[in-house]
Amino acid sequence: MNIVLGITGGIAAYKSPDLVRRLRERGAEVQIVMTASAEEFVTGTALQAVSGRPIRSNLWDKEAEAAMSHIELARWADIVLIAPSTAEVMARIVSGGAPDLLTTICLATEAPIALAPAMNHIMWSNPATQANREVLEERGIHIIGPGIGSQACGETGPGRMLDPDAIAATVFNLTGGKGQGLLEGRKLVVTAGPTREAIDPVRYITNRSSGKMGYAIASAAAAQGADVILVSGPVNLPEPPGLRVVNVESAEQMYAATHEAIIDADIFVSAAAVADYRPENAALQKIKKNEESMSLVLVRCPDILASVAALDSAPFTVGFAAETENVAEYARGKLEKKNLDMIVANRVGPDCGFDRDDNSATVLWSDGEQNFPVSSKARLARDLIELATQRFLAARGTDTQPRLSIISTKD
Ligand code: C5P
Repeated sequence: MNIVLGITGGIAAYKSPDLVRRLRERGAEVQIVMTASAEEFVTGTALQAVSGRPIRSNLWDKEAEAAMSHIELARWADIVLIAPSTAEVMARIVSGGAPDLLTTICLATEAPIALAPAMNHIMWSNPATQANREVLEERGIHIIGPGIGSQACGETGPGRMLDPDAIAATVFNLTGGKGQGLLEGRKLVVTAGPTREAIDPVRYITNRSSGKMGYAIASAAAAQGADVILVSGPVNLPEPPGLRVVNVESAEQMYAATHEAIIDADIFVSAAAVADYRPENAALQKIKKNEESMSLVLVRCPDILASVAALDSAPFTVGFAAETENVAEYARGKLEKKNLDMIVANRVGPDCGFDRDDNSATVLWSDGEQNFPVSSKARLARDLIELATQRFLAARGTDTQPRLSIISTKD
């Protein structure tokens, strides 16, 4: 697949070399076209090295135009992806102006165009930008993201460029292009986030899970070409592109949704922080504070992970063990007790684990283990998916065919 990757002048351009690598890993040829302001944020030298092709930036570069003119470039592209896309470039494409090479290619191409916006959240919410977004979408231009979260300016809100893995997965989905992902043709189910166990119609028991690790794992699996179903508890995260999300609240709902999704799955990753106990009877009306004290009777919630691992046709099953002490020891106990193929153990506490963008982990399986030092959850998720895929293929022996296409030859 041939991708023209337009890079414009936003701080998220520092993620561009990583995005190029993610696209190339999946087998794409990437031709970078930078705007003048992008060069303020990332160097052409770095991008040339990772893309393996000379960078294009100037419409009037005679030598480059002689080798491949902007019209040839517009025809060569199977997709034009602009990431990061500033508000200014969105406006320029809406207006049909073509003062530079990138917008000229956008006018001259018949290939699909996708933009991954990245800007301050107030700029993104500005009625002018939102009107431009609407026009672009009406014209069939794909808008990938943006995500919500902390921004380079120190503020929080919608406007972050999505993770390079998620962008790469979306681009391949948009073009129907078959990449060379490790999990092409495989089905994964991932649970993520906390659950909410109702006490009455307005109160519930929950926990500190943000869902970030599970969402990162689901995105990393989709980026490797897997068909992913993400069963999510209530979180404050944007839906990752390129996969199916099933939203649930309680542990019982998560149990039902997971068992519905798990049919034919190759790998199950249980990253959700499922409640261990729920109130036995949720009150139908709001409980009044008439008494000085009150007691809640709690009953055990179903263990989703153990129930999946116990299925006759269990997929390769990966659990998580979030512990405050004796992390590896408790995790190995769970690996054995729940009959898992792999467990990801990590320490949680005020300074690590929950609701952070980074994490470290020790992964254990029956006869081995591997440590992953602190890194971003996106990076850790990629490493975990790679390791899980290796172990999955090793566990299945020579059977490396997708389960969906296995046909029994026995009579
Ligand atoms: O036993 P513990 O709750 O520590 O095990 C953690 C692992 O089990 C996680 O992978 C979590 O997603 C899963 N789990 C589950 N259902 C529960 C409790 C935990 O799937 N009710």
